[in-house]
Amino acid sequence: MASLERRVAIDAARAAGHLLRSELPGSRHIAYKGSPTNLVTEMDARAEELIVGRLTAAFPDDAVLGEECGATAGRSGRRWIIDPLDGTTNYAHGLPIFAVSIGLETDKRVELGVVFDPNLDELFVAERGRGATVNDRPLSVSSATTLDESLLATGFPYNIRETRDNNLTEYAAFSVRARAVRRMGSAVLYLAWLATGRLDGYWELRLGSWDVAAGSLLVEEAGGRVTNLTGGTLDLDAPALVASNGHIHGAILDVLRTVRGEGRA
Ligand code: IPD
Ligand code: CA
Ligand code: CA
Repeated sequence: MASLERRVAIDAARAAGHLLRSELPGSRHIAYKGSPTNLVTEMDARAEELIVGRLTAAFPDDAVLGEECGATAGRSGRRWIIDPLDGTTNYAHGLPIFAVSIGLETDKRVELGVVFDPNLDELFVAERGRGATVNDRPLSVSSATTLDESLLATGFPYNIRETRDNNLTEYAAFSVRARAVRRMGSAVLYLAWLATGRLDGYWELRLGSWDVAAGSLLVEEAGGRVTNLTGGTLDLDAPALVASNGHIHGAILDVLRTVRGEGRA
């Protein structure tokens, strides 16, 4: 990975994160994307505009997929995948748990991942084959080997009020098997925190490409494992995800199989 891509992505993530942090105390204009639990604020769009502006100025031939502005085609075979504000519900409530995520995919593989948490001032960077860091310190996943000693995280789909596949049965099953299960409203931070060893495992039934592009590379480069719900390859276009330190991956998949049945998981 040329250092220019890394540098531009880091600068964009930091700038967007600082913008979000500086505006956090203000009042938010909240709109809804399709369901009453799927919020979007004016800051999602402002942060994305900033990031996309910088990336397209530096790399005009690359495609872009941003959560708010959608897809723009490119000619280079590369695609930037952006979540300008992961943790919008937290942000709308003034809760300082959110992050910016930028991934760069080449030939359908994420090669660079940058996540910035402006609240803890933590910059996470991963390059395929070259490891992952937080504020330049190398990252590695935890060593927990059983669910019993594991801290897990999960999230729930925005259409939780309509769908029967709402993750509540899975949540109950893991809650009685793991040390604890957290839900803090930021898929991107779960993956970054998994890469640091603060969390041991994470599952979620339905995510967007922008939620997982950068974070999944962080986990893999920190020595962890990322799959779909049955242990197969993660589908970046429609991610259903299990991520872990690797040691407890099989145990997480077993619980999902038990709860969801062979066909559904
Ligand atoms: C959401 C958060 C949440 C997860 C949702 C995501 P957003 O992203 O990561 O933790 O449960 O599935 O959509 O909407 O805050 O960018
Ligand atoms: Ca998100
Ligand atoms: Ca978002």
